[in-house]
Order: sequence, then structure tokens, then C-alpha cells
Amino acid sequence: MIGLANNRKAEINPHNPMIIGVPKEIKNNENRVALTPAGVAEFKKNGHTVYIQTQAGLGSGFSDEEYVKAGASILPTIEEVYAIAEMICKVKEPIASEYNLIKENQLLFTYFHFASSEPLTHAMIERKAICLAYETVEKTDRSLPLLIPMSEVAGRMAIQEGAKYLEKPMGGRGILLGGVAGVKPANVLVLGGGIVGTQAAKMAAGLGANVTIMDISLPRLRYLEDVMPVNVDTVMSNEYNVREAIKVSDLIIGAVLIPGAKAPHLITREMLKEMREGTVLVDVAVDQGGCIETCQPTTHENPTFVIDGVVHYCVANMPGAVPYTSTLALTNATLPYALQLANKGWKKACTDNEELKKGLNVVTGKIVYKGVSDAWGLTLSSIESVL
Ligand SMILES: NC(=O)c1ccc[n+]([C@@H]2O[C@H](COP(=O)([O-])OP(=O)(O)OC[C@H]3O[C@@H](n4cnc5c(N)ncnc54)[C@H](O)[C@@H]3O)[C@@H](O)[C@H]2O)c1
Repeated sequence: MIGLANNRKAEINPHNPMIIGVPKEIKNNENRVALTPAGVAEFKKNGHTVYIQTQAGLGSGFSDEEYVKAGASILPTIEEVYAIAEMICKVKEPIASEYNLIKENQLLFTYFHFASSEPLTHAMIERKAICLAYETVEKTDRSLPLLIPMSEVAGRMAIQEGAKYLEKPMGGRGILLGGVAGVKPANVLVLGGGIVGTQAAKMAAGLGANVTIMDISLPRLRYLEDVMPVNVDTVMSNEYNVREAIKVSDLIIGAVLIPGAKAPHLITREMLKEMREGTVLVDVAVDQGGCIETCQPTTHENPTFVIDGVVHYCVANMPGAVPYTSTLALTNATLPYALQLANKGWKKACTDNEELKKGLNVVTGKIVYKGVSDAWGLTLSSIESVL
């Protein structure tokens, strides 16, 4: 009740200090945390109060003591965090056991992915919370600043994982990415030259591999040609070029995205026969259906499977394996927005900043983001009606 009362006050007086709560993530295998001790210190500097659920940071390497040193208070249970906080900072969407903890007018700043969960959408409408989704915060150039850090992590990790599964005992061809003196390096093919593809290509090139990036965007290929090292070639993506390249590739990274659509299958099942045995496919685009037809989502516990002698790695939450890096990368991007929300109150912060405004999805029982209303055939309200 205290939190709710303060929240209403925060809306009226935008410069009111805010109570921020950080629960421990309870989704299976989620080790990231929404705020680091450095983030706590920033909130404190701005006059806010931060409550962290005990052990919330442990999976990412941050102890309760570090949070306390930075100025946070530790609460023993998730119920207490939700009960006291005006703004909840999280990583993953709330799961069913958290729904009833959410209060009317409570601000939730986290990944939601509403279009993939109807129960979550209805629950948040019913709870009358203010749901600001990381994934739809959008800059004027249409880039998604709170998704980019995870793509950077996944892109870099794709090469690390690919290199591992190219080892013979792991099912691969037994080829070292960089080769050695007198022995040619491996050939790495990167499908899609966006955030994931660029980071993957850089890592592979750094290890000495022969890298080819394919994309359908000529401006993007021009840019990559300019900035990439000499062991990276850029090639237009089309069926003919893909077919030719896969015959001689040791490691193939799937990094294609068509916003809002399923990824196209650039490698079909019948094309696997044209690859050499022990070739490794890392389909990072698996969360959008994958750009390799035979791709099926896998987990960190059981990351690979083999079809026609070709090793498939299709883990849908790759950044989850490196929570320390992922937490820092994510919070570096979220903290400036979270501070604006706390300093100004969500209404003024969203009015002043179009990027944040685009993050509003479900607000006090109304859907204000078209992608969410379209996904479930529900009524769309204008953002102005809630601001
Ligand atoms: N598995 C994971 O853990 C994980 C983590 C982060 C991101 N992802 C996924 O990785 C994928 C890529 O993300 P991103 O941030 O790099 O996207 P992005 O938008 O930055 O890049 C996608 C690129 O694909 C290109 N493209 C589109 N159609 C193509 C085609 N037919 N052939 C070649 N290129 C084509 C686009 O021109 C663009 O350059 C997304 O599906 C994203 O959701 C997965």
C-alpha cells in the first residue's frame, strides 16, 4: 500500500524520489539481473531508494553485500519487493506466479514479448500495471537499443560455440578456425550482416578464419566491406551464392532478420547433403523460426543435434550462458532509460522521450502498442489517452 500511495504521488510530482524494486529472476535458467551494484549507486545518487531481493545478482556474480555497499536494501522475498516498489526493474517477462504480486499503477520495466504470450497480455491488462517493454523502445533510426546488446553477445558467442563444436570430440570436422603456419584456416559463412552477423564476423576474423558475410542489403554490404578486416569478404545473399558457399564452409552462422516476420529458410534440408560431414551450423535466428530449415530450438543443457552429419547448434537464449557479460551489456543500455523513468515519473519521461514512449505496451488496463493488439485481436488505445 505504501508503494501504491507513493506511486500516485510520483505521477503528480515528477521529481519525487522513487522506490525501485529488483526481484530475482525465476524463469528457468535465467541468471541475469536487471540492476548491477553500479546501477544502484546511480539511483542513490539521484535520490531514489532501491530494494533488491536477496541473491538476485548471484547468478551474474553480484553478492548481496555488493548491493548493500552501493546503497541498496535487501529484502528476503519476492512478495516484499513487489509490495514496496513503485518501479519494478526486471529482465524477463513476469511468469504466472508473479502476476498476482503486481499492483495497479506499478511501473514494470523489462522484456515482455507480449505478442508471443496471450495469458501474459491478459494478466497485465487485468493487473492495471504500466508495462514498458525493453524490446519496443525504439530510436528514430528504427534501431532497438535494448535488443542490440543481446544480439552483440549472441553474435560473438556464435563463433565461440561454433569453434567448440568444430572439434572432433564434439562432432565437428576437427578444424581449427585460424589454422596454423602451413595449414589453411577454416571457412566461416555468416548469413545476415546485421548486429549478430557483424559481431560474429569480427570474432571469426580475429581468430584468423576466412570469413564471408552475405546480406541482401547492398548499402549494408558496402559498409561492411569498408570496416571489416581483409580476411572478410562480402557477398550478395541469393540462393545461388548460398548453395556455392555452403559446399566449402566449415562453420555457418544464421543471423538473418526480417523485422516482424519469420526468418526465411536460406538453407533447406536438401542442401545439407551438399555440405561436408562435421560442418557446424549455429542458427542464432532460431528465436524467429531459424534461417536453416532443419533448425529446432535447443537448450544450453542439450545444445546440439546432428542431421546428415551436420552439427546444428540452435540455442534460443544464447546470452543466458554468459550472464555476467549479458547483465552488464543489458544494464549499460537500460540504466539511462530507467533513470529517466525514476527521475521524471513515467508520464513525463515518456512525453519527453519518444524512444521510451515507444516502449509503452500495456498501460493501466489499455493496450497502447499496435503489435500487441494485432497479435490478440484486442482493442488498441492511443498512447495520448494514457499520458
Ligand atoms: N539465439 C539467441 O540467443 C539470439 C540472441 C540475440 C538475437 N537473436 C536473433 O538473431 C537474429 C539477428 O538479429 P540482429 O540483431 O543481427 O538483426 P539485424 O536486423 O541487425 O540484422 C539482420 C540482417 O539480416 C539481413 N537479411 C534479411 N534477409 C536476408 C537474407 N535473405 N539473406 C541475408 N541477409 C538477410 C538484413 O538485411 C539485416 O542486415 C534475430 O532473429 C534475433 O532475434 C537471437
